[in-house]
Amino acid sequence: MGALLPFTLALLFINIAPAHGGTGCSELLVSGKHPIPDSSITASTSYPHTNSACCLNHFPHRSRINLVTDKNGNGGWSSLTQDDKQWLQFDLGFSRKITGVITKGREGYSSAGKGQYVTAYRLYYGNATDDMAMFVDNDFQPVIFDGNWDTVTPQMRDLDPPIYARYVRINPVKWNAHPSMRADLLGCPLTKDTNSIIG
Ligand SMILES: *[C@@H]1O[C@H](CO)[C@@H](O)[C@H](O)[C@H]1NC(C)=O
Repeated sequence: MGALLPFTLALLFINIAPAHGGTGCSELLVSGKHPIPDSSITASTSYPHTNSACCLNHFPHRSRINLVTDKNGNGGWSSLTQDDKQWLQFDLGFSRKITGVITKGREGYSSAGKGQYVTAYRLYYGNATDDMAMFVDNDFQPVIFDGNWDTVTPQMRDLDPPIYARYVRINPVKWNAHPSMRADLLGCPLTKDTNSIIG
């Protein structure tokens, strides 16, 4: 499964590089070379109610794209409730150029059709959590992204046009079994040119 990621990233690079006017805009912004801290990953609700160090723990930090399940089956973020108002949010620390989204389902829990994964989602973004815009296409129509069809295969979605934002929310609108997922964002690496904190 882990071996799929470099392969699909390579495919993505080939497919989207021209659209984004340059190369190398496909770095993982959440859990890549410069990962954001767990505290920067939050959610509307998480299963169960309280973060149990012992057993059940589908809290937001478990949404990291390459997370492997523990012995208690905690292989992703899961919302507490099953409705289309739930979200998983990444705080990138400052506004970044974001060119794509990658998602997977909950790892290690897929027997008998019970695999938990998000099949469709909306995206919200902004520089303040009380001022988030829904991602729309070039004709300003709301976009519903296709998500996953199994728990293990990473699915990439291109953001066209790319967005510039500090906060991104993934809002599951359809799912199999339960709204559970792992995710990351794709964007440009930090360079001196972008006046960022990492040279
Ligand atoms: C966020 O702030 C940056 C500048 O700091 C700006 O370029 C970008 O357009 C802003 N994004 C949104 C969604 O307002």
